[in-house]
Amino acid sequence: MPRPTVTVLGLGRMGSALARALLLRGCDVVVWNRSPARAEPLVASGAKLANSIAEAVAASDLVLICVLDHQASLALLDAAGVAEKIDGRTIVDLTSGLPEELAARQTSICTRGGRFIAGGIMSLPGGIGRMDTLLLYAGDSAAFEAHYPTLVYLGGSAEYLGPDPRAVAHVMSTLGVFVEGTVALFLETSTVAAHYQIPMDRYFRLTRLTRDMLHNQLRECADRVVSRQFGGEEASIDVHLDFVQVLDAAVARTGIPTKLTHAFMEHLQLASSRGYGDCDLAVIAEVLRTESSR
Ligand SMILES: NC(=O)c1ccc[n+]([C@@H]2O[C@H](COP(=O)([O-])OP(=O)(O)OC[C@H]3O[C@@H](n4cnc5c(N)ncnc54)[C@H](OP(=O)(O)O)[C@@H]3O)[C@@H](O)[C@H]2O)c1
Repeated sequence: MPRPTVTVLGLGRMGSALARALLLRGCDVVVWNRSPARAEPLVASGAKLANSIAEAVAASDLVLICVLDHQASLALLDAAGVAEKIDGRTIVDLTSGLPEELAARQTSICTRGGRFIAGGIMSLPGGIGRMDTLLLYAGDSAAFEAHYPTLVYLGGSAEYLGPDPRAVAHVMSTLGVFVEGTVALFLETSTVAAHYQIPMDRYFRLTRLTRDMLHNQLRECADRVVSRQFGGEEASIDVHLDFVQVLDAAVARTGIPTKLTHAFMEHLQLASSRGYGDCDLAVIAEVLRTESSR
């Protein structure tokens, strides 16, 4: 099989990681960056530096964009000579954006005859190229299928979300908060653990031991939210509230601003004040949903 040729536009922390992963898998990689110096390490590893954006786009059927923001992404597409090179090519834009921005990029590419895929990266640059790294894609399904064998080089979990590119932004703004929030909660609670002189290694191992248990609990929560079965047979909101109020008061004495612990207590208080004190913890999702329409 011939080696795929891939163009990468934007060689910041993430764009460079994408280009490196493709080089490691033996792809021919053509790169371009606004500040050419950033391309030097990649060129030293075998990438080819294009002299212009138009030349970079023309070089490959598959073009990845990874620049700072929506404005920067649009600026690349509007650069001299680019419009006529897009025809027939697949553009995978991994630049973060709002739902309407991803839809605007799709229009901009498709009106020039290109095939558009929005991408969302659920990883730090260090995770790019790993089998367990999740990248989200939405847009042209035939283009996704055609380039899937190359896209999995970026992250082994390549999840296609459907033809509407806005789906990437929708999942990013929910799963992204889940991931960042989990890390933030680890950092908050491990700071309290350090205050209690629990060694970090031990604390980390304890959080690791809860992983499978939590997975099962989340599965049950998800089932309850969908079926709207909120009977508090195992533990009620009021039992959780009593427990978390004690925890919140204890950690408040450390002087550490434990805002996430406190925020969870506020969710419990809200559910209890709305009359759901006897219900399962999963009822919080119902309470939050109905609050949005109050
Ligand atoms: N880093 C992460 O952990 C991570 C994770 C998930 C998603 N992302 C997303 O990946 C994208 C890139 O992030 P990054 O971490 O690589 O950022 P970064 O290291 O700050 O790099 C930004 C890149 O955008 C380019 N750029 C900025 N403005 C431009 C413009 N007007 N025209 C052309 N190029 C422009 C920069 O070029 P110069 O070198 O010339 O300044 C550079 O190549 C962002 O949308 C980010 O949300 C990043």
